[in-house]
Amino acid sequence: DPRPRVFSAMQPTADSLHLGNYLGALRQWVALQETHDAIYSVVDLHALTVAPDPQALRTRSRVTAAQYLAAGVDPERSVLFVQSHVAEHAELAWVLGCLTGFGEASRMTQFKDKSAKQGAEGTTVGLFTYPVLMAADILLYDTDVVPVGEDQRQHLELSRDLAQRLNARFGPLVTVPEAHIVKATAKIYDLAEPTAKMSKSGNPSGLIELLDDEKVVAKRIRSAVTDTETVVRFDPVHKPGVSNLLTIHSALSGVPVAELEAEFEGKMYGHLKVAVADVVVTALRPLRERVAELMADPAELDEILADGAARARVIARETLARVYDAVGL
Ligand code: ADP
Ligand code: NA
Repeated sequence: DPRPRVFSAMQPTADSLHLGNYLGALRQWVALQETHDAIYSVVDLHALTVAPDPQALRTRSRVTAAQYLAAGVDPERSVLFVQSHVAEHAELAWVLGCLTGFGEASRMTQFKDKSAKQGAEGTTVGLFTYPVLMAADILLYDTDVVPVGEDQRQHLELSRDLAQRLNARFGPLVTVPEAHIVKATAKIYDLAEPTAKMSKSGNPSGLIELLDDEKVVAKRIRSAVTDTETVVRFDPVHKPGVSNLLTIHSALSGVPVAELEAEFEGKMYGHLKVAVADVVVTALRPLRERVAELMADPAELDEILADGAARARVIARETLARVYDAVGL
């Protein structure tokens, strides 16, 4: 396959993905299948860093994979698998960990933030080495490009450094991945606090979950925080709430923001909210229905994930064998 290879993944740490995950990541993954050789993973080993309930983790891995599929990840064209099904991730992570400086890993800002919140006793070594496992995920597949949000930039830099270090010390072994920051990425904000990014760890009333009940979704959008003016104008600095609603509408309806501004000129915010709720509910309905089907038929999902893991393993084994051989294992 002469197309560049893309690797991306999400952690199964929620019962549902949210609209930010969909518009900021998943929808791009689907589009990238047209031009790239795509590998998409549900990274359950990473999710262990938050000490989840075992049954919840198992279910979330499946429902996350089901959402990838429902959004349009095509398991015929792309490789879709669960990380722990391919043991080579953990094996390469060990080798890379032995090439990573303690100081270098200590400089990861996400670790510093999270460990500061959790304290030394609450912080695990798994959280510390998380970026090393992420590097293994990427390097195992000789990945050319990794779509990343701003918050993962530093981790991707470490992946690049480790690839270069491996190649410099042991001969050309792996592809050095590039970050792929998609410009048109819709960044979605919290409905209740529209200066904060929509996040699963944010305010529940600010979240639009892909699998939420339609009534809940519509209600949250109708309650979205706006401002005290009455002008529907895209101005993220002065009007973050209204701008977020316009972004969401435009991203899902395909109607340019300028046209939406014209359409809602002289109308109350309530009209905009009703229209946004309608667009969101309509867009998410088929996705939710497909997820329900997949979750109701475990055999189909199991087969897709087993096939994906088998295909991932073929590539991963080859890379790991190369690396083991080069380092003397
Ligand atoms: P969360 O912030 O809810 O924990 P993650 O950090 O797990 O989400 O992100 C998973 C993927 O979704 C990443 O590719 C990230 O860039 C994207 N993403 C998350 N939140 C948003 C958002 N509010 N807007 C756009 N993209 C987002
Ligand atoms: Na996050």
